[in-house]
Amino acid sequence: MKILVVGNGAREHAIVAKLRDSSIGAVDEIYCAPGNAGIAKHARLVPIEMSNTVELADFAQTIKADLTIVGPELPLVLGIVDEFKKRGLRIFGPTRSAAEIEGSKVFAREFLTRHNVPSPRYSVCGSYDEAERILKEGKLGFPCVVKADGLTSGKGALVCETREEALAAAASMLKDKRFGKAGERVVIEEFVPGEEVSFLVLCDGTRAVPLASVQDHKRLKDGDKGPNTGGMGTISPALNLKLELHKEIMSTIIIPTIAGLSKEGRSFSGVLYAGLMIGTDGKPRVLEFNARFGDPECQVILARLRSDLASLLVAVADGALADVKVEWAKEPAVCVVVASEGYPDNVVKGREVRHLPESEDGLQILHGATVMDGQKLVTNGGRVFAVTALGASLPQALNRAYEAVAHIEFDGAQYRRDIGASALKKLGVA
Ligand code: GLY
Repeated sequence: MKILVVGNGAREHAIVAKLRDSSIGAVDEIYCAPGNAGIAKHARLVPIEMSNTVELADFAQTIKADLTIVGPELPLVLGIVDEFKKRGLRIFGPTRSAAEIEGSKVFAREFLTRHNVPSPRYSVCGSYDEAERILKEGKLGFPCVVKADGLTSGKGALVCETREEALAAAASMLKDKRFGKAGERVVIEEFVPGEEVSFLVLCDGTRAVPLASVQDHKRLKDGDKGPNTGGMGTISPALNLKLELHKEIMSTIIIPTIAGLSKEGRSFSGVLYAGLMIGTDGKPRVLEFNARFGDPECQVILARLRSDLASLLVAVADGALADVKVEWAKEPAVCVVVASEGYPDNVVKGREVRHLPESEDGLQILHGATVMDGQKLVTNGGRVFAVTALGASLPQALNRAYEAVAHIEFDGAQYRRDIGASALKKLGVA
């Protein structure tokens, strides 16, 4: 089997490493476009930008790829799946119209309302004047969340404590065009206090198979302080997801969403990722949908996956999830992200990585943003490494990951010291 993976982060490194580790050995050749210095150890890098969907399809056609796996949202929203399908090429991911559930926050909110899927109250604003009026009325309360409509790499959702902060956030998007076209419309949402859960399912258009549960840590700093990021660390399983809640999420959120997308002619195939808030009333609400594996959710999910990844994703792409059973390791997995100085707003790149521990059984040093500069490994973006560990228990997995993180050396490296801390507290360990 020949596989092309599209993307250049630690999520794609985790996918490529898992394919290499394929228990049934079905993967002969793996290509990654454009990849990074870590991925280069497992796959042939292809210098095609992930936004270039036509060239990617040309390449897949030339090498006769059996499967293409799309990691990030950008190519999905640009219609890579439509381009591949037009040419009869097998690809894992949703079409452009299905990916709009992630590509447009306005579409997602209105869709959820149409299909009675529980989500926070909101208003859509297409101008600053409108946003000012909504915020002055204050019906959504404070804090509130101001979200850019389009893709912003996880930076476009601002939690605003006061009306003044919310007005400033709306002005930055609607007047100053901080996110360009992506911020031409904004969603203003009520803030729902509670605990976040990332709930991901594989979906083949009609059926959904839940993946291992995950808890992400989105804020930059310990204690859930600082700006939102793409994610600074994950643990799996998520201890706040008990069986009853799991069932409720499937029946009130996942199944109606998949059915609603189908009904609207946007049948969804790929990973549907619901970013949920479990409110203080114990009820789940959708904060956002993503149309792909999360990063760093994917890292811990794949660390615990015991089934063959390639066959699983082929089953999704072929609409054949009916007979698939997915097996998981009982051991918990954790992932700690090591980011660059200035992340997420003013990333400093080009720092030499002076020391990096080796991956070993149950410990993966996944590269998120690295490049070779001659013989030197240097940083090349915001989230540079994702250290992922399995352990017999959550404390053991965390110890293993943090021990490796402590040996990563580059100037300005920053990471959270409290990944999994709230779960440890629940376990009565901390
Ligand atoms: N970790 C959040 C995301 O991938 O969007």
